[in-house]
Amino acid sequence: MEDMELFSPIAVAVLGGCTIFLFLQWKGLRRPPCIQCWIPWIGAGFDFGKAPLEFIEKARIKCGPVFTICAMGKRMTFVTEEEGIDTFLKSKNVDFEQAVQDPVYHTAWIPKNIFFTLHEKLYVIMKGKLGMANIHQFTEQLVEEFHEQLENLGSHGTTDLNDLVRYVLYPVTINTLFKKGLFFTNEKKVKEFYQHFKTYDEGFEYGSQLPEWFLRNWSKSKRWLLALFQTNVQEIKTHKSAKGNSRTLIQAVLDIVEMETHEHSPNYGLAMLWASLANAAPITFWTLAFILSHPDIHKTILERISSVFGTAGKDKMKVSEEDLKQLLLIKWCILEAIRLRAPGVITRKVVKPVTILNYTVPSGDLLMLSPFWLHRNPKYFSEPELFKPERWEKANLEKHAFLDCFMAFGGGKFQCPGRWFALAEIQICIVLILYKYECSLLDPLPKQVCLSPFGGCPPAGRAMPN
Ligand code: HEM
Repeated sequence: MEDMELFSPIAVAVLGGCTIFLFLQWKGLRRPPCIQCWIPWIGAGFDFGKAPLEFIEKARIKCGPVFTICAMGKRMTFVTEEEGIDTFLKSKNVDFEQAVQDPVYHTAWIPKNIFFTLHEKLYVIMKGKLGMANIHQFTEQLVEEFHEQLENLGSHGTTDLNDLVRYVLYPVTINTLFKKGLFFTNEKKVKEFYQHFKTYDEGFEYGSQLPEWFLRNWSKSKRWLLALFQTNVQEIKTHKSAKGNSRTLIQAVLDIVEMETHEHSPNYGLAMLWASLANAAPITFWTLAFILSHPDIHKTILERISSVFGTAGKDKMKVSEEDLKQLLLIKWCILEAIRLRAPGVITRKVVKPVTILNYTVPSGDLLMLSPFWLHRNPKYFSEPELFKPERWEKANLEKHAFLDCFMAFGGGKFQCPGRWFALAEIQICIVLILYKYECSLLDPLPKQVCLSPFGGCPPAGRAMPN
């Protein structure tokens, strides 16, 4: 009896202590709800891989605004609302470089040590060269290059809009950002380039994660593109533009790279090539497709274009910064197309645990944000599925600000450095195509069938330039 009396307070104390300890543990380490599967390592990989964007949205509906998907040995924690987005963009405990280093290695063979040594320096150079204040330096060359490419198209015909955009935009971008004349003029080589870039771009998502022997065609195209830069790197570095002014973007990048290594210049060439073409081309396609499928918007744009440049069809008209400012509706259409066709996910690595909505996200997780779904949340964008360029009237573009929660160019310290260049390039492309040709779609607006986390990927839709 005496023993029992002695035992009770000790037992209560121990039990109480354990409860408090467990409660504190639970409070501190409450993980977000997790979607996995009984198969070790693969987890939800099969279902996620089949239709990643649909899977993300279903998980949000099931689990709430913060959730983790375990797939292929990775823990991906998704944030979908303010607090999580804030952490994603501003927390010192999440890191861009750590998140993208591995995909950069797989897709361009840039070794880890070189990547970490050079990344920030290169970002600063790119941001400076392509910054809003410098975009006027590209306008004249972009206009000349587009005129040249459009001349090759002839005066009328029927073609696949997706092909049309790529056949015009790729050479213009490469001649402007890399080196005038780098793009092939030989028809066979041009075809080869398009084929290899298409294979590389379409397989990019898998290529960034899987071992290369799974993806033989992708690997072949990657080697072909790398060899293209290997052959041309010396010429790219020493080339002087006809006007003798500043160095091209890739020349500025290679100046930095070659302070560290000469071996990996082609790899940086390939990484830049993909970054500059992979999103800009599908967005140009979608902007044109949206404009052509909205007759009222199309008509207003044509009226504005003729009020700025006069009668359509004039040969090689000049386009100034001022002209582009008067064609704001086209810029709104581009931004609205980007909103609707934004990348599926952007990512950061958690390097120290972060707390979001009372959950603790552990270090090692990939923190994921889906611009695609964020742009479809009616809390942030009214009637989110509709193409409504006029919603951009509220954005302070003069002050370089987009709409709140517009995340297509990422955000935070390493937001897309090419965004102002992309907007200018696409705007010039659309002005010149709509000025030169009377266009109409022959098929209905295509659906975005490819629900890939990397966005882009438009299906074919024919257009008829007359
Ligand atoms: C509509 C077109 C474009 C879209 C939607 C887009 C989107 C993005 C996104 C989402 C990121 C990741 C940012 C983050 O995680 O916070 C990014 C990075 C990047 N973009 Fe773009 N981009 C576009 C056009 C371009 C162009 C034309 C260029 C080059 C001229 C370019 C160069 C880059 C580079 C180099 C990075 C990596 C930056 C780094 O390593 O820190 N982008 N872009």
